[in-house]
Parts: sequence; C-alpha cells; structure tokens
Amino acid sequence: MTTMRAIVIDQPGAPDVLTLAEVPRPTRIASEVLVKVVAAGVNPIDAKTRAGKGTSPAIASYPAVLGQDFSGVVVETPYEAHPLKPGDEVFGFAQVPRHSGTYAEYVSVPSLSVVRKPAVLSHVEAAGVPVAALTAWGMVVDVAKAHEGQRMLVHAAAGGVGHFAVQFAAYFGAHVIATGSSRNAAWLRELGAAEVIDYTTTAFDEVLHDVDVVIDLVGNAVADTGTRSLGVLRPGGLVVNAPSGTWVTVAEDAAAAGRRGTRYQVSPDGATLAVISRLLTSGDVRVYIDEVFDLEHARAAHEKLEGGHSRGKSVLKVCEG
Ligand SMILES: NC(=O)c1ccc[n+]([C@@H]2O[C@H](COP(=O)([O-])OP(=O)(O)OC[C@H]3O[C@@H](n4cnc5c(N)ncnc54)[C@H](OP(=O)(O)O)[C@@H]3O)[C@@H](O)[C@H]2O)c1
Repeated sequence: MTTMRAIVIDQPGAPDVLTLAEVPRPTRIASEVLVKVVAAGVNPIDAKTRAGKGTSPAIASYPAVLGQDFSGVVVETPYEAHPLKPGDEVFGFAQVPRHSGTYAEYVSVPSLSVVRKPAVLSHVEAAGVPVAALTAWGMVVDVAKAHEGQRMLVHAAAGGVGHFAVQFAAYFGAHVIATGSSRNAAWLRELGAAEVIDYTTTAFDEVLHDVDVVIDLVGNAVADTGTRSLGVLRPGGLVVNAPSGTWVTVAEDAAAAGRRGTRYQVSPDGATLAVISRLLTSGDVRVYIDEVFDLEHARAAHEKLEGGHSRGKSVLKVCEG
C-alpha cells in the first residue's frame, strides 16, 4: 500500500486534534484526476468540520483528512487524450468528506472540478482561491446579479470570501459598501469598495438605508448582523447569507419584512473557476494571502482562522512546488 503525509483528525474537537500522520494515498476512480498537492487553502468549513459541525456528520470513518482547496501537479488523468496531462499545474476544490481532504500530499478529485492554475499565481496563491472565490461568485454574480447602479453591502469584506466579493461586485459595476475594521479600510477601498464602515465603532444599520443587496458573511453569529441587515434593505431588496447555520430562517424573516432572503451553498465548479482564473490572469481580481503555514502547523492555521480576523486567506504549504 502506498502512503502519504497528511494532517488527520481521529475525532472531532479543538485545533489540537489535528495531527500529522502517514495514511493511505487516495485511490483514483476512472473519472478522477490524481493531484500531488503543493499547497492547501484553509477555510472556515474545515474548522467547523474539525469541531464536529460543518460536514462532520458525513464523515464515515476516522482518521479523516480535512481541507477542500488545493493547488498542485497532475499525476494521473482519466484517459490518454484527456486535456489535462501528468505534470500540468492545476487548482480546485475537493468536496470533503465525499472526497479525501487536501491537507495531504495527494488528492483525487472529479476531473470536471479541476482547472489549470493561472501561470501568474504561485501554488500558494492559487490554493487560496477556489472555495472563497467560488462562494463570492455564486453569491455576488449568480444570485445577486451584480450590475451598475446596484448598491451592495458586503459584510466581513476583508475575509477570504469577502475580499473576492468586493472585487467581483466592483468589477460588474456595483456600488460596494464594505464592513471591516479600520485597519482594513484603505485596502478594501483599493479592492473596489466605495464606502467602508468600521463595524467596531459604527452600527451599519444606523447609517445605511435603501441598499439593494446584502452579501451576508457574518449572519447572526455576531450581534444579530444578519437580522439587522433586513433593516438596511430597500423594499424587495435581497440578503444572501453564507453562514447559514447562524440564520436558518433568513428566507422566512426576509419575506415577513417585505424583503427577499436566501441561504447560499458553494459547490466545486471547474467551469466557473476557469472564468475566475481569467480575471486573476488579467489582474482584474487579486487573491490576498495573509499567512503561509507548513503542513505540520495546520493547528496554528486553524487557531488563526478561528480568531476571526484573517485578512484574505491562510494557506498550508504541503511540499516544494
Ligand atoms: N455557505 C457556503 O457555501 C460558505 C462558503 C464559504 C464560507 N462560508 C461562511 O462564510 C463566512 C465567511 O467566510 P470567510 O472564509 O470569508 O471567513 P474569514 O476569512 O475567516 O473572515 C474573516 C473576516 O471577518 C471579518 N469580520 C469578523 N467579524 C466581523 C463583523 N462582525 N463584521 C464585519 N466583518 C467581520 C474580519 O474583519 P476584521 O479583521 O476587519 O475584523 C476578517 O477579515 C464563514 O462563516 C464561513 O463559514 C460559507
């Protein structure tokens, strides 16, 4: 049996359940691409699953490998004439636990979810993109249909999803209002925010009204941010909520207030990731990497993430690429 280094959990728990282990390499099935992982992005869903929430109920056995984002090098493809070849540099999103996690030297993922890495990005930069950028695209472009003249409020704009949401909304011409702490204000304006509200000193619902769309990346986890967002929307305005476990009644609450509300859930989507890749290549959109940790320091990466104040993304370096 061929093995690999991976960060595993033997049970759900605090960050100290993340340990380095030698585990079997994933076995590729016919439609999948086997990738040697160079870098793995760290996302809140990883921490939630590690803690026994998120996708944890679907974990069938332990030890389990976490991590959804990856950037790396193709090792095996489904068939000889496949457009991807061994040695190609790719990035993507593995749906854990349906697929094995990316905090590991190898991952095997559906070929349609794998995209060529933009040459302008390093593996570390590319690994910070898939889950956060696909979530931002889904909320801002697919659901909210960002366009000129639209007033769009983005909560947690300085985080992994938020910094892409600001850039996509601005790219499509929306007037972007961002919430973030003052240390991030100038940076958020550089990314395309027209206004920044420091949520630590100013209640957004005391200064805003007639907003068309709220991209809610906080929900009711902090200070009823989700519910209070209904008060800044124009009649018929839309709130799109990603931390859905914090506000399960978003649709009903919005309807009762004469607004529209929906949860959002991201999926691996190679076609959309390819579109995002072109915006990264052209320089219209950038990924910001806050901190890089070696694989064996995944615990520290989770502690930082759970501190709640990352700027952009944190990434695990799995091997030299
Ligand atoms: N449903 C889905 O498909 C889906 C997909 C991806 C993510 N999510 C969820 O979406 C949320 C955001 O994810 P993420 O990856 O962007 O998280 P993240 O990178 O950890 O977000 C960190 C950011 O949140 C900001 N922040 C913290 N409290 C805030 C508040 N009260 N108001 C405004 N900003 C605040 C911080 O800004 P300052 O440092 O300036 O305070 C920091 O920059 C998470 O709950 C995640 O689980 C859901």
